[in-house]
Amino acid sequence: MTTYSLPKPSDFAHTINGKNTHLIILTNRAGMQVALTDYGARLVSALVPDKRGNLVDVVLGFDSIHGYLGAKEKYHGATIGRFGNRIANGKFNLDGTEYTLAQNNGPNSLHGGEGGFHSKVWDRQVSFKQKVDFYYVSPDGEEGFPGEVKVKVCYELTNENEIIIRFRATTDKPTVINLTNHAYFNLNGEGNSNILDHLLQIPSTHFIPIDDNQIPFGNEAPVENTPFDFRTLKKISQDIGDDDLQIKAGTGYDHTFINPNPLSQAAATAYAEDSGIQLQVYTTEPGIQLYTGNFLSADSGKSGNEYQKRGGFCFEAQHYPDSPNQPNFPNVVLRPGEEFQSQISYKFNIVK
Ligand code: BGC
Repeated sequence: MTTYSLPKPSDFAHTINGKNTHLIILTNRAGMQVALTDYGARLVSALVPDKRGNLVDVVLGFDSIHGYLGAKEKYHGATIGRFGNRIANGKFNLDGTEYTLAQNNGPNSLHGGEGGFHSKVWDRQVSFKQKVDFYYVSPDGEEGFPGEVKVKVCYELTNENEIIIRFRATTDKPTVINLTNHAYFNLNGEGNSNILDHLLQIPSTHFIPIDDNQIPFGNEAPVENTPFDFRTLKKISQDIGDDDLQIKAGTGYDHTFINPNPLSQAAATAYAEDSGIQLQVYTTEPGIQLYTGNFLSADSGKSGNEYQKRGGFCFEAQHYPDSPNQPNFPNVVLRPGEEFQSQISYKFNIVK
């Protein structure tokens, strides 16, 4: 049995572009422990009690800042911005002006570009043992996006074993924004094989089909009679190998599910029988991207084990991919005088 502990703060003391990085630790009365770093306003670890009363680290990641800097997968646990997921051909038009972004994913812009929010050292303010606020000012034109955007991301660990993430942003020029968190979870413990045996429940009746470049066609498709039907609890493994065009387009699950009841109902639930740990995601966001770690490989994680393909899954609550180019998708434009607000909460329970 693996014994999990939090990384050491001294292994997160570093300087990136003149700014010092830190490890921040939150604890609650139920014994849950969470570690975060200001590098990417990122979730590093979440030690959650399992059905045997042992603490299990359910978040994939690294035990030092160098691990994050050297990783093949750059987004572990990070705050993603300015724009989560893909923008086709790295281009969009806003109020008659065409903007060009760096193409860092084939022809597309992914997760705000190479220099997206995941790669920045954020300012931080720890209010008490259960809450930390991260701040970042993204300059006008950063990664090709218009407007200076001021972003705040607050992480709170409640006594009910819930990590609540609150996002706020304002801009001085019209821009587009889509913020999310990119934690990879393995509810049997990070580095513990793969997540194919995890059970999922997603209440969505529709999902967003994508083309071979993982860009939406623009429609919503019914999940019924497809591998995307998770309305009743189902193992990830059950249909992930199906001969299905959408499964092929995503190399597995890498799709947005339409959230039927934002905030009032879990947008997605995952459960691992071995540990008895259940994760529920509640969010204000209209969609949730289920990503089954299809491109993970060869990074050696906190436990010393290598993260293999499907070694973790993400529930990325956000707006739909490529929304700036999709007139029928919910609005992602932020204008001066408005405040962008969203919330994601990861709630952990033990189910025996
Ligand atoms: C995307 C994947 C991408 C991954 C990168 C996910 O949010 O949906 O397609 O490969 O992020 O880590």
